[in-house]
Amino acid sequence: VVAAVRRVDVGDYHVDVTPGVLAEAGALVAAAAPAHIYAVITDANVGPLFGAGVTASLARAAPGARVVYREVPAGESTKTRATWASLSDWLLDERCGRDTTVVALGGGMIGDLAGFVAASLLRGVPFVQVPTSLLAMVDASVGGKVGVDTHQGKNLIGAYHNPALVLVDPAALRSLPARELCAGCAEVIKHGVIADPAALESIRQEGTRLLDSSSHAVWTGAWLTSLIARSIEIKAEIVRADPREAGLRQVLNFGHTVGHAVESASEFRLRHGEAVAIGMAIEARIGEAIGFSESGLTQAITTALDAVHLPRVLPPGLDPDAVLTAMGTDKKRRAGNWRLALPRRLGEMVGSAEAFGVEVKPATVGEALGAA
Ligand SMILES: NC(=O)c1ccc[n+]([C@@H]2O[C@H](COP(=O)([O-])OP(=O)(O)OC[C@H]3O[C@@H](n4cnc5c(N)ncnc54)[C@H](O)[C@@H]3O)[C@@H](O)[C@H]2O)c1
Ligand SMILES: [Zn+2]
Repeated sequence: VVAAVRRVDVGDYHVDVTPGVLAEAGALVAAAAPAHIYAVITDANVGPLFGAGVTASLARAAPGARVVYREVPAGESTKTRATWASLSDWLLDERCGRDTTVVALGGGMIGDLAGFVAASLLRGVPFVQVPTSLLAMVDASVGGKVGVDTHQGKNLIGAYHNPALVLVDPAALRSLPARELCAGCAEVIKHGVIADPAALESIRQEGTRLLDSSSHAVWTGAWLTSLIARSIEIKAEIVRADPREAGLRQVLNFGHTVGHAVESASEFRLRHGEAVAIGMAIEARIGEAIGFSESGLTQAITTALDAVHLPRVLPPGLDPDAVLTAMGTDKKRRAGNWRLALPRRLGEMVGSAEAFGVEVKPATVGEALGAA
């Protein structure tokens, strides 16, 4: 079988999407970010699966270099300044200088955390993203945003620090829990809504492949590789055009103004992707209700969500008012209204270069939440 290979340019760096690429990660990392010390940072779920392979591959590719390795506990609660400090201390104790490359091996939690360690160590050393969750592949590892959470909220301390390279191995998804895989599909669907109706159609028709895929062919095949690569391309194109979120990049917020509120109102019982799925369905309904979005948009999105078993209504017990309250603190609020990034139709977002987003009254949001 000839592996499907795709390369996506993001400006200063590129994303390599190749089934099986983890096995040859060392040579690619060493070529893109040559160093005397490679510091692999991963979590306690991903480390036992891929850690040894990646460190061995680095040792083979860079025989003169030292490879150091650290696992941190899995889960969002590890993405803190305390973990950042202990990882930074560890690297300084290892006498890592500027000739160090940090390798972030794991989901988005590791990418953000290890990326922030790299961004701040000696005012910035190179790092490579090796995302192993679908969400990290199509979203978190592209765009250069890194950081940690505080008790006041998520991602409040951080930096922009582009990776030197992103290595995506779709075959790594084989071990990802189904719920995480589905949650990642929410961002794939979001990218489809923003710029590629065909991706949505592909998920609608073949999404079930992902969910009952004991077969090797799914993980190494062209379908998944193209789906992932296309999704990365869409984010990459937006990030290239607007690296610091001055305007255009706001379209990536589709589903997220409501989604973030749903996520926090659920007290994080919902995965981010699940909350965003609900957020997309509700925001699309708002778009149709105010006459901004083409009718049928909500239906098109919810059938794609259904195909990968993502929710599209608030779960029982989650009060629409609690979501509205949670939206009250959203950064995107202006003069009492919310500014939502809404699609005009599948593949086309509303807005202009200066102002992406549509002002929506709280009452309209309340109605859409209630109707859900
Ligand atoms: N920087 C950005 O632009 C950006 C964008 C979106 C999200 N994020 C961040 O990403 C994080 C969420 O990412 P996530 O959903 O990947 O969470 P995660 O990193 O916590 O991974 C989810 C779970 O899957 C496990 N896992 C990962 N890969 C696996 C594999 N191949 N096999 C088995 N288990 C595996 C992890 O150990 C974890 O338990 C959040 O912290 C969020 O803020 C950042
Ligand atoms: Zn998201």
